[in-house]
Amino acid sequence: MSTRVLTGIKPTGSPHLGNYAGAIRPSIAASDKADVQAFFFLADYHALVACDDPLKVQRMTLEVAATWLALGLNPDRALFYRQSDIPEIPELTWLLTCVTGKGLLNRAHAYKAAVDANLHSALDPDHGINAGLYCYPVLMAADILLFNAHQVPVGKDQVQHIEIARDLAQRFNHVYGHEHFTLPEPVVDASSAVLPGLDGRKMSKSYDNTIGLWLSPSALKQAIAGIVTNSKLPEEVKYPDESALFAIYQAFASAQESAALAQQFHDGIAWGEVKAMTFARVEQALNPARERYAALIAQPAQVEHLLQAGAERARAIAQPFIKQLRHAVGLRPLTASAVSAKSPAAKKFARLSTFRDSEGFRFKLSASDGKTVLLESIAFEEAAACGKAMAALKAPDAAIAMEQTDGIATVVFRIANEVVANGLGDWGLACVLQELEELRLHDADK
Ligand code: TRP
Repeated sequence: MSTRVLTGIKPTGSPHLGNYAGAIRPSIAASDKADVQAFFFLADYHALVACDDPLKVQRMTLEVAATWLALGLNPDRALFYRQSDIPEIPELTWLLTCVTGKGLLNRAHAYKAAVDANLHSALDPDHGINAGLYCYPVLMAADILLFNAHQVPVGKDQVQHIEIARDLAQRFNHVYGHEHFTLPEPVVDASSAVLPGLDGRKMSKSYDNTIGLWLSPSALKQAIAGIVTNSKLPEEVKYPDESALFAIYQAFASAQESAALAQQFHDGIAWGEVKAMTFARVEQALNPARERYAALIAQPAQVEHLLQAGAERARAIAQPFIKQLRHAVGLRPLTASAVSAKSPAAKKFARLSTFRDSEGFRFKLSASDGKTVLLESIAFEEAAACGKAMAALKAPDAAIAMEQTDGIATVVFRIANEVVANGLGDWGLACVLQELEELRLHDADK
């Protein structure tokens, strides 16, 4: 079976050289591999979270689509579509929203950063924050889970979103008693280029230091001439590692060419010459695509047609799947026979229990399936201490969080900052929290 690789591109700004080297070029290369089925889509619903200018949304969607096509994305192989052409995505978003703990979204980085910025400015915590930002991770989970993607190539800043998608997939699978969704893996490509911008910092729209991908040759030349250098004179030894120009050259040149330029740095090449060489390399890479890009921009109908064709292929996958999911949650004809064995009376709950091993007393939290162990505690010398810690886990303010240990994310429960219990296996935070919450409510009912 081929690997399904899926990624969304938010059409919020004109593409720049950093997008090209860091994301577009490696993604297109990956989509050409024989054993990969690529899904690339324009995340225009996501764009609405931060942009209320309809013309800009439309224009950026065209620019980004034309960019990927001009740079060689093959729309016959990869599925290339626009998110808002797939009504099954918002439909799945709602189904997922209803298994999403609100607390999970409170902890999402982007929302938390917005709240922190407000607090910093002495504003109401939710000042100016729309619910779209808050629910952004659920929409993104729907993008991914609807196509049961195996791998999701993303930047580091998006990894938490993939973790949330995994959590929601597990939660949904668990609640509805069937492996509906594949658990996606984030793929952060450490080898793909991070280009510096005009000022030497990472090229990024938010730093306003980008070089547009589709500048005219003369504007490109001028932009490259404006990249910061130090004041070393011709003849003086220069260091490739300290040079933004070198990094950009390297991203567009072969290993041999880069090695040769490094030698020239050592021999005291003049900055003006480095700039000329960098311009020549970048121009050579972009020149053939520039015309294709201009042709596509001039014919939006052609791009629209390709996107519609992509949407049709994507929906051929999404429609039967959403039908299955609707059935699973009970949105089904009154005449349909219930396949799901689940009825309220049969509902089971997670369980807390203590046990003893050679190191002392421990407690564990078993999932409502009666088999899976979600958390296991450290060993306590005293049974009473163990019982007390176990009771603390049931308190509504228990400190349970996802933590990274040796690059692996696990659920951790702490009391007074000390680790008391650790997650076992692949269970995400949302599952553990939800199981605990249901257990608390269940106990309160008794
Ligand atoms: N949030 C992503 C970004 O800002 C874009 C995105 C939306 C995405 N849906 C996705 C990425 C699904 C990967 C998978 O870059």
